[in-house]
Amino acid sequence: MTKLRSRLWFNNPDNREMTALYLERYLNYGLTREELQGNKPIIAIAQTGSDLSPCNRHHIELAKRVRDGIIEAGGVPLEVPVHPIQETGKRPTASLDRNLAYLSLSETLNGYPLDGVVLMIGCDKTTPALLMAAATVNIPAIALSVGPMLNGWFKGERTGSGTIVWKAREMHAAGEIDDAGFMEMVASSTPSVGYCNTMGTATTMNSLAEALGMQLPGSAAIPAPYRQRGHISYQTGQRIVGMVHEDLKPSDIMTRAAFENAIIVNSAIGGSTNAPIHLNGIARHMGVPLDNDDWQALGLDIPLLTNLQPAGKYLGEDYYHAGGVPAITGQLIAAGLLPHPGVMTVNGKTMAENCEGLETQLPDVIKPMTDPIVKAAGFLNLKGNLFDSAIMKTSVISEEFRDRYLSNPDDPEAFEGRAVVFDGPEDFHMKIDDESLDIDEHCILIMRGAGPIGYPGAAEVVNMRPPSYLLKRNIHALPCIGDGRQSGTSGSPSILNASPEAAAGGGLALVATGDRVRIDLRKGTADMLVDESVLAERRTALPPRPFTPESETPWQEIFRDRVGPLSEGMILRGADAFRGTAQKGVPRNNH
Ligand code: FES
Ligand code: MG
Repeated sequence: MTKLRSRLWFNNPDNREMTALYLERYLNYGLTREELQGNKPIIAIAQTGSDLSPCNRHHIELAKRVRDGIIEAGGVPLEVPVHPIQETGKRPTASLDRNLAYLSLSETLNGYPLDGVVLMIGCDKTTPALLMAAATVNIPAIALSVGPMLNGWFKGERTGSGTIVWKAREMHAAGEIDDAGFMEMVASSTPSVGYCNTMGTATTMNSLAEALGMQLPGSAAIPAPYRQRGHISYQTGQRIVGMVHEDLKPSDIMTRAAFENAIIVNSAIGGSTNAPIHLNGIARHMGVPLDNDDWQALGLDIPLLTNLQPAGKYLGEDYYHAGGVPAITGQLIAAGLLPHPGVMTVNGKTMAENCEGLETQLPDVIKPMTDPIVKAAGFLNLKGNLFDSAIMKTSVISEEFRDRYLSNPDDPEAFEGRAVVFDGPEDFHMKIDDESLDIDEHCILIMRGAGPIGYPGAAEVVNMRPPSYLLKRNIHALPCIGDGRQSGTSGSPSILNASPEAAAGGGLALVATGDRVRIDLRKGTADMLVDESVLAERRTALPPRPFTPESETPWQEIFRDRVGPLSEGMILRGADAFRGTAQKGVPRNNH
C-alpha cells in the first residue's frame, strides 16, 4: 500500500503543530479524524459544471454518484470548482481560458492534500484543460464525461448542435428562413443536458480521453440523461480509490503509445481539427513529443467509420447505441490498425483486454471495417511560405475535390486561386457580400488575426461562407485558409490552425488580396506565388504585433506574452518544464 500524499498534511509525526492547523479546518467542515488520518485517499472531484457552463452543468448531479462511489470504495470525496469554460458563452474565446483553468487546477491539485482526482470533462476545452493539469501534477486521475445531449429533431430530421447553426446561417443568408425560423431551428438541436451531440470538439475530445485510456471503457458515449451515465459515474468514483492504492498515474497511461492510438481513433471517428491542438498540448505537459507530422504520418490513411454529423448523418444517442468508442477500438484492433493494443488504461486492464472482439451494433452508424465511409480520413499537415504547419481535415472534402486534387496519382494537379484576405471575422462579415471584391469559385478566402495571440485564444472563424451571390448559384464552399480554428461542428474544407499566426509574424501577415496562392495537397504545400523581394518589403512594413487589438484584461495580456503556436498545442511557453510535480515532494508549509 502506498503512503498517501494527503497524510503529509493530516498525519505528519514530524510536524504536530502544522498537522493540527491543517486538520482543524477540514474537521470544521464535518469530516472526522478517522477519515482524514487513517488510510482513506482524499479524492478531488474537479467540478467543471456551474450555472455559467450549461454543457457541463449536469456534472453537479453526477458528482453525487461519484461521491457515493468514492465513499463506498473507502475514499473521501472533496468537490472543487474549476474555472468555468463555456464554449458558447465566453468572450472573446473559451479557448483563451483553457490554459487559465489548467494553471488554476494544477496549482490546486499540487497545493492541497489530495491523493487522486476525478476529472469532470465535457464541453470542448474542459477536457484538454483537465487532462493537462493531470499531466503536470501526475497524481492518479480518471476522467468522467458528462455525456452528449439527446438527439435533436426538427421536422422529422436529426438536428445536430453546432452543425445546424452553419446550415441555418446559410438558409438565412439565402432568404429561405426568417429570424424566428433561424432561432427555432437552432434551438431544436439542443434538447437536453449534456455536451454537443455532434462529432464536434466535445464528442471528439471525450472519445479521445477514452482512447487515451483515461476513462472507463464505454464511458464517453453514454448520453447525459441516461441512467447508465449515473452508473458509470458511481463506478468512476469507486475506481479512482483503487487507482490511488495501486499508484496508477497519468504518466503510466498517457504514454507516447497511448497518444499514437488516440490519433488513429481520431481518424476513425472523424474527429475535430481542434484535436491536434489539444492532444499536442496535453502531450507536451506529459513530456511526450507529439506534433502535426505525427498526425499526418499515423492518421492520414485510417478509414472513417463513424457516421456522425457534421461529416455524416447521425448523432450522440446513435453513437452510444452503436457501441461508442469500444466498438471503434475493437474493430481497429481486429484490423491490426491500432498500433499499441497493449497499453494500460484506468481500469487496470489493457486497451485490448477492454475492447478486443467488440464490434458495431448499428452498422450504419459505426461502419464495419469492410465498409468505411471514407478510406483515408486523417489530417494533412501542410507547409510552405504561408505557414510552417496547418491542418486540413480530409474526411469532409467533397468526392470531386478529393479525386481532382488528392487521390489521383496519375494526374498531379495543384489548386491555384486568387487570395481574398480578411483581417478578422468583423472584416469578413463587412465585406463578404460586397460584389466589388469579385469573388468567384476560383478564389481562396484567407482569414488572419484569428490565432492565439491575435484574437486572443484563437477563434473558430475560419469556416467562411461564400458570398450570398455565389450561394444563390449553388456554390456552398470555397477553400479557406486561416490562422484561427474551425468549429468541430463545421464541415467545410478548410486549412486551419496556420502556425505561426499573422500576429506572430507568420506568412499570413504578408499575403495580400489579389496574390496567387497555390495549394498542392499531394506534396503537402501551400504557398503564395509572390516574389521574395516583395515579401521582404511587406515584412519591413509590419508593426511589432500586427493584426492584434489591445488586450482587455490582465489574463489576455499574460496569455499573449506567453502562448505558443497552435501547432505546438497553444500551451504557455515554459509551463511544460514542470512535470510530475506531485512526485517532487510536498510544497512547503504555509505557516
Ligand atoms: Fe459545450 Fe458544444 S458548446 S459542448
Ligand atoms: Mg466551438
